[in-house]
Amino acid sequence: MKEDQNAYQELIELARSAAEKTYSPYSHYPVGAAALTVEGRVFSGCNVENASFGGTICAERTALVKAVSEGFCRFKAVAVVCSKAHECWPCGICRQFMSEFGVDIDVIVEGADGRLQRSKLAELLPQHFGPGDLPG
Ligand code: THU
Repeated sequence: MKEDQNAYQELIELARSAAEKTYSPYSHYPVGAAALTVEGRVFSGCNVENASFGGTICAERTALVKAVSEGFCRFKAVAVVCSKAHECWPCGICRQFMSEFGVDIDVIVEGADGRLQRSKLAELLPQHFGPGDLPG
C-alpha cells in the first residue's frame, strides 16, 4: 500500500501538470487527470471546452480516450486535480465513462490538507449500468 501511495502521489503530480494544458475559457476551471494502466503506463489529459458547451470533454475522459485509442483499456487508478479546488471528484458522466473499463479502479484526489483521498470507482458509482447489462 505504501508503494501505491508513492505511485499515486506521482499520478497526482502528472494530473497537476496536465491541468496546465487546460482549454477552459468558459468555466475557467482547470482540470487535469492521469490514468495509470495495469501495464504501468500513464496517460494524462485536461478538460477541453467548446463554445457549444455540451461539446466539452472532461479531463478524465480525455485521459482515458488517449489510453484506449493507444490500445490500453485496463486501469489501476485515475488521479484528478483542479488547480482551483480541492477534492476534485469526477462528475457523473466521467464515473459512467470510466466504469465501462471496470469499477475496481482507484480514484485519487487531493484533499485540502494535501493528503490523497482514495475511493474505488465502485463506491463512487454503486449499482452502475455497464456492459453486462446489455442483452446478447
Ligand atoms: N470537469 C472535468 O474536467 N472533470 C470533472 O469530473 C468535472 C468537470 C470540467 C468540465 C468543465 O470544463 C469544467 O470542469 C467545469 O465544469
